[in-house]
Amino acid sequence: MRMTIDTPTSLLGGLSPQAFMRRHWQKKPLLIRLALPAAEPGLDRAALFALAATEGVESRLIEQRDGRWSLRHGPFSRRQLPPLSRPGWTLLVQGVDLHLQAAHRLLSRFRFASDVRLDDVMISYASDGGGVGPHIDSYDVFLLQLAGRRRWRIGRTKQPMLVPDMPLKILANFEPEHEWMLEAGDMLYLPPGWTHDGVADGECLTASIGFRAPTLNEVGMQVLQRMLDGSDDDEGAGTRYRDASQVATDQPACIPAGLTEFAVDAVRRLVDDPSSLHCALGEWLSEPKPQTWFEPVAALPGRRAVALDRRTRMLYDGMHVFINGESFVSSGRDARLMQRLADHRALDAKAVAQLGADAWELLQSWVFQGWLHAVEGEPGN
Ligand code: SIN
Ligand code: CO
Repeated sequence: MRMTIDTPTSLLGGLSPQAFMRRHWQKKPLLIRLALPAAEPGLDRAALFALAATEGVESRLIEQRDGRWSLRHGPFSRRQLPPLSRPGWTLLVQGVDLHLQAAHRLLSRFRFASDVRLDDVMISYASDGGGVGPHIDSYDVFLLQLAGRRRWRIGRTKQPMLVPDMPLKILANFEPEHEWMLEAGDMLYLPPGWTHDGVADGECLTASIGFRAPTLNEVGMQVLQRMLDGSDDDEGAGTRYRDASQVATDQPACIPAGLTEFAVDAVRRLVDDPSSLHCALGEWLSEPKPQTWFEPVAALPGRRAVALDRRTRMLYDGMHVFINGESFVSSGRDARLMQRLADHRALDAKAVAQLGADAWELLQSWVFQGWLHAVEGEPGN
């Protein structure tokens, strides 16, 4: 789906994605009535319970009884879940977009915030009064009411304190500033750091469209580790510290200045290589989610329209394309076509026909690995 970033949309309460990003993103909450007026087909209680029973799908069951919270991890067979008539419990399933095409489509509506920020769609079912308690998240989130009603209270707690000895992080000093009842189709955007508590009013289904934002340390660690892994054979990588000019010392515990300089050089050697830094960053960011596997398929019968598998992550920068943790240098027309594939997550047959021999071979190997698929007719881009 091609996004029109300057067109007002009901998804964002009549704002265009441009205006939403400028006014609200990471800045202030937004309540949107009837963001998605029609129910999302395929995202219902039965589908959620089936996923929660599946091995390899991350799910949690949270229950509040007599003021005590309990937390269990799935998978859960239907019999392991409490009866629907029992109030105060909720089942949360993470990464639903990896498993259900409808959830993947839902996540795709938020691509205006950039693919690297999209994390996942979590869907929760709650019986009457169910919820996860007042808490704070460090990520941006859109809370979309899929079915039923949920009362949200949100606030900004300056010094959040947690209730001690709880299996989940519950705020002891929640100070709500706003309260809204969300009906099916309504959505609430929350920037990181806003405390919130959503309590089901009757049974309800809520989707959380979550965004990731790495810390400086996380990026540093991931990028440097990858650069080191990839530089084993580089010239200079095995250069060993030498101290032929070391004089005899009567301060044997003192770290020699030469070794400190050597360490600075070791780090600088990595940082001064922007091309491999860009590669490492793109490879990391395009890494598929853990526990993701692709089903290999037979090669394409010919040059025809293709679409990325919903589990595939594809990104690019000025010189490379990245797909599922791998990087490829690309330039010219092939680069433009690959970038189109990444942006639209599909290429029509005419575009596929224009790929050079190497790019076409690459595309076929991705098809073979199940990273993309042939589509019938045109993919609609
Ligand atoms: C929920 O769906 O109950 C929890 C979503 C959240 O607060 O992050
Ligand atoms: Co939350």
